[in-house]
Amino acid sequence: MESLIKDLSEAYGPSGEETLVRTLLEDLIKEHVDRTFTDNLGNLFALREGPAPLLMVSAHMDEIGVIVTHIDEKGFIRLAPVGGLLPHLLVGQRLRFKDGTVGTVYHEKLKEIKELDWSKLYLDIGAESAAAARKRVEVGDLACLHQPFAVLGERYLGKAMDDRAGCAILLEVARRLPPELPRSVCFVFSVQEEVGLRGAITAAYRLNPGYGLAVDVTRVGDTPEAPLMDIALGKGPAIKVKDSSMISHPRVRGFMIDTAVAAGIPYQLEVLERGGTDAGAIHVSREGVPSGTLSIPCRYVHTPSEMVDAGDVRHAAALLEKLCATPWP
Ligand code: CO
Ligand code: ZN
Repeated sequence: MESLIKDLSEAYGPSGEETLVRTLLEDLIKEHVDRTFTDNLGNLFALREGPAPLLMVSAHMDEIGVIVTHIDEKGFIRLAPVGGLLPHLLVGQRLRFKDGTVGTVYHEKLKEIKELDWSKLYLDIGAESAAAARKRVEVGDLACLHQPFAVLGERYLGKAMDDRAGCAILLEVARRLPPELPRSVCFVFSVQEEVGLRGAITAAYRLNPGYGLAVDVTRVGDTPEAPLMDIALGKGPAIKVKDSSMISHPRVRGFMIDTAVAAGIPYQLEVLERGGTDAGAIHVSREGVPSGTLSIPCRYVHTPSEMVDAGDVRHAAALLEKLCATPWP
């Protein structure tokens, strides 16, 4: 899965501009499912047909990024966040636009660093005038972080592990599933999660699933003076109990735990105090959908260098494979 995570992590795909990621995924998954299709918002569906009820498994394609709000007469570019991104994380970082244009971020003179906010940040793409800048970038253009993927022993470091690690797991499981399934499974690669779970809303409505699962990253409490959280890298994928978008359905959560125990797959129980996943949208679709989330522990979520553990990724794929291939209670 390593080279897959590398390619997906390095791909360009801020919220609303998931086309490149979608093309990459569709090419890779289509031979492993009965059919693929997209909807009006750009969600990608990859369906394995089987008996009802359908299991919807969702991972989001979009990543956090920025949008151009203003270009000044000297060609400096002002930005606003698209998704949860802190301005101080961008200082000295490179950003990349869809056409490959790259720039570096710095800030105006500050009396104190705590004055730093989005209004003080600017992007320099090396243009000497507004006209020169506008040949490459226009107001409303989106950019993502520009960071190469790296393997650090058993850990992967890169941008957009949130949620390309999840996309890679869905793809890997689609490849491994047996020819006969106890129920139909639809892998959904959703759009616009980072701006409010929007793709998952229309995807769940369309599929009308019997069960929902999101596969996404979660925060950890294992770094120096981290906020208290009982999740660590390398101790297995997390089975979510609660976050700000959903209380996991007890039957789904119980089934996930039983399945992990039966297969000897390590897991952690997750309570995420702030944050949500696609399952937050799926579980309140139509008359309600029993849903859960399989989480990949991740350090430095929503920064240019997100870190996940290779063993956690492998175990998450193993658990998702079991969850797709076993009849649900
Ligand atoms: Co996120
Ligand atoms: Zn995410």
